[in-house]
Amino acid sequence: MYGPLTVLGFAGSLRARSYNRGLLRAAQELAPPGMEIRIFDLAPIPLYNADVEAEGDPAPVAAFKAAIAQADALLIATPEHNYGVPGVLKNAIDWASRPPGESVLIGKPVAIMGASLGMAGTARAQLQLRQCFVFTRTPALLYPELLVARAAEKFDAEGSLTDEPTRERLRELLGALAEWTLRLGVRADRGLKGGVVARNGGDALPSAEELSPEELVDEAIEETFPASDPPAWTLGRG
Ligand SMILES: Cc1cc2nc3c(=O)[nH]c(=O)nc-3n(C[C@H](O)[C@H](O)[C@H](O)COP(=O)(O)O)c2cc1C
Repeated sequence: MYGPLTVLGFAGSLRARSYNRGLLRAAQELAPPGMEIRIFDLAPIPLYNADVEAEGDPAPVAAFKAAIAQADALLIATPEHNYGVPGVLKNAIDWASRPPGESVLIGKPVAIMGASLGMAGTARAQLQLRQCFVFTRTPALLYPELLVARAAEKFDAEGSLTDEPTRERLRELLGALAEWTLRLGVRADRGLKGGVVARNGGDALPSAEELSPEELVDEAIEETFPASDPPAWTLGRG
């Protein structure tokens, strides 16, 4: 019997009624069967300082790294600040990326989404994040993208996502993250920790009792990548 697929979500905004925190809450609500999304608050994480790091990770950083390590996948909601990744989020990723070559970000599947007041819906911030994840060797889901533009029209006064097309796109993103995680979990030889039970669209996969782990994995890979061998970069973590 396999446990749920655990996803760690965090947002690059500390604002109580943040649209991006609202996106994470919506993701918790819309997660496919078998996926559990836990939210980590970045507020206690101090500014990166190599001198502090040399003395040992501060407790909030250690907790953040442990939460990443224990998650099967990550879900990041980024605002866009001055056409880029907000400092709150970049700072947290900088801590988590240490030590380079052995960090908890290596090989960890991640999906990126974001909401902004502007028309581009965090497109530029998301591209910057993807660029960071090249260096950290963190395999970011390519599609679908979730760019929530003109966020003020899509969330209510409490910061909850109300726009139905956006909610549907979010469902698609979460289904795709489940598939991506299953595939990379196998390739990274992490075992079938997730027991992924959803495909794109949210249909339930057969339970672990109905399919062996190998069958479950083979079926998911075949369905997602029908005619190709896995790319070489998925084969290892370090
Ligand atoms: C310093 C700063 C820079 C911003 N730069 C952008 C920007 O480049 N593009 C954009 O669409 N919105 C920009 N905004 C507006 C944000 O989209 C808006 O504050 C949004 O609510 C932030 O997300 P949150 O609700 O999750 O905090 C900026 C806001 C701040 C405070």
